[in-house]
Amino acid sequence: MLAGLHYTVLGLGDSNYTRFMYVPRAFKTRFAELGGVCFYDCAEADEVEGLEEVVDVWVAGLWDALKMVLSKTSAAGGAAGGTNDGVHDAVGGVTSNNKDTHTHIIQQE
Ligand SMILES: Cc1cc2nc3c(=O)[nH]c(=O)nc-3n(C[C@H](O)[C@H](O)[C@H](O)COP(=O)(O)O)c2cc1C
Repeated sequence: MLAGLHYTVLGLGDSNYTRFMYVPRAFKTRFAELGGVCFYDCAEADEVEGLEEVVDVWVAGLWDALKMVLSKTSAAGGAAGGTNDGVHDAVGGVTSNNKDTHTHIIQQE
C-alpha cells in the first residue's frame, strides 16, 4: 500500500512515560508493514538522556541521505520507459524498486 514511500523517523520521547516512543515505533512498524523503505536510520531521543546528542547527529546526517534518496528517485522516475534500478538506503543498504516515492519525517511531540 505504501510501496514507494521512503521514510525515516526521529522519535522525541521521555522514558518516564509508560508508552515510551509509542507513536514513532508504531509509525515505523506500520510503514515497514505497508511496504515503505527506510532511507535513513530511524532514531530515538530520550528526554531523560538528553535529546540533543541524538537529534543533532541525526539531523546532521539527514541532509545527505535526503539528497541521495531524492536524486536517485527523481533520476529513476525520469527514465522514459526504463526500470527503476533501486534506491539505496543511505544507511542500511536496503533497496527498493518502487517508482513513486515520497519522503515523510515524523516526530513525536
Ligand atoms: C502531555 C505529554 C505526553 C507525552 N507522552 C509521551 C509518551 O507517551 N511517550 C513518550 O515517549 N514521550 C511522551 N512525551 C514526551 C514528549 O514526547 C517530548 O518529546 C519529550 O518530552 C521531549 O520534548 P520537550 O523537550 O518538548 O519536552 C509526552 C509529553 C507531553 C507533554
